Amino acid sequence: MNDPRELLARELTAARDRTLLLTDHDEPELLRQHSPLLSPLVWDLAHIGQQEDLWLLRRGDARREGLLPADVEALYDAFSQPRAVRSRLPLLPPVAARAFCGEVRGRVLDRLDLLGADDDPFDFAMVVSHEQQHDETMLQALNLRSGPPLLGAGAPLPPGRAGLAGTSVLVPGGPFVLGVDAADEPFSLDNERPAHVVDVPAFRIGRVPVTNAGYAAFVADGGYADPRWWSPRGWAHRVEAALSRPQFWGADGTRTRFGVVEELPPDEPVQHVTFFEAEAYAAWAGARLPTEVEWEKAAVWDPATGRRRRFPWGAAEPSPALANLGGAALRPAPVGAYPAGASAYGVEQLMGEVWEWTSSAFGPWPGFRPMLYADYSAPFFGGDYRVLRGGSWAVGPSILRPSFRNWDHPYRRQVFSGFRLAWSVDEPDA
Ligand SMILES: [Fe+2]
Repeated sequence: MNDPRELLARELTAARDRTLLLTDHDEPELLRQHSPLLSPLVWDLAHIGQQEDLWLLRRGDARREGLLPADVEALYDAFSQPRAVRSRLPLLPPVAARAFCGEVRGRVLDRLDLLGADDDPFDFAMVVSHEQQHDETMLQALNLRSGPPLLGAGAPLPPGRAGLAGTSVLVPGGPFVLGVDAADEPFSLDNERPAHVVDVPAFRIGRVPVTNAGYAAFVADGGYADPRWWSPRGWAHRVEAALSRPQFWGADGTRTRFGVVEELPPDEPVQHVTFFEAEAYAAWAGARLPTEVEWEKAAVWDPATGRRRRFPWGAAEPSPALANLGGAALRPAPVGAYPAGASAYGVEQLMGEVWEWTSSAFGPWPGFRPMLYADYSAPFFGGDYRVLRGGSWAVGPSILRPSFRNWDHPYRRQVFSGFRLAWSVDEPDA
């Protein structure tokens, strides 16, 4: 196996290259607050460095002196500084923020070099994951930005295959191994662990995510005007927020993506829906959302071997032939674009494309133990969140595993969020 230090040095560099590319804009652009839901990009930039300083240079001990003065460091505390006010803080200007991040990184790479063969490099992987996750958040901010487009059209994607939308596969009932252990996935985050056996009744799951065309049929059928399809809370939110279609959709069959108005591509997975909208669509379609446990079983379980696969398609690392990840495309690929990425059950596009809403609330697996960044997961357990699975087109491939769990409020939709359907079945051969 490769030296994990080399691997982590490469991943730290790849994450930083991406961060610098996403923040390669002029100063006013970086200081702008595009939405109260998201930070100005220059906050993300320095926060990435601040967290790296805290976790890797001070081993999480905030009482130890960092590279920033304490009053400046406090500006980058995600828990005490709400996103909506961050542009009004005396933030480091972009040049100083870049210099600070570079200074931290130099010291981190020195520390990585000194790591012994017996040292656990997990904390470095955790910091790579943090940076890549902020890179995705920055893309959300850039998507909400108004004004002339700043990014290009995005990298080309493979074509889809017809006839998949609306089809499903059967996942027979029976036990499988949910979650992962450090022994198999040393860089898995705390909420993915530990691996444990769960029994899952038979169910059907969508072969591909719900498409724009599928969702447009719900809109055209008056789905947003009919409380029958909505949960009471979902309906209340729909009325209060005056939702009438997914975010960024026009009334004329167009959508706006990173500032570009374009025809809505019918075969692309629908994006920018809340959990409530996903739930209503599923009810209208005579289906439901999968639980996150069902989702993970459909993604990784191989009934032929009775074991988990590392990725839905097998052991190979994610690549452009298997999944749309990494953010270069700036969009999901049409359904059917990755037949080689199918799971053992034949479910496609589980990783990449869109974060998929599940019906599950966010909680710990039995035996949960917090990692060094102890407030990453635990403060959110039991809160007003639903779990999203899979990983969008904007996720860095090196941080993603089928066990990865994302969570958000059920009313959020600036996330690159979509969903696939599921159905309960009474008989294994139903
Ligand atoms: Fe953060």
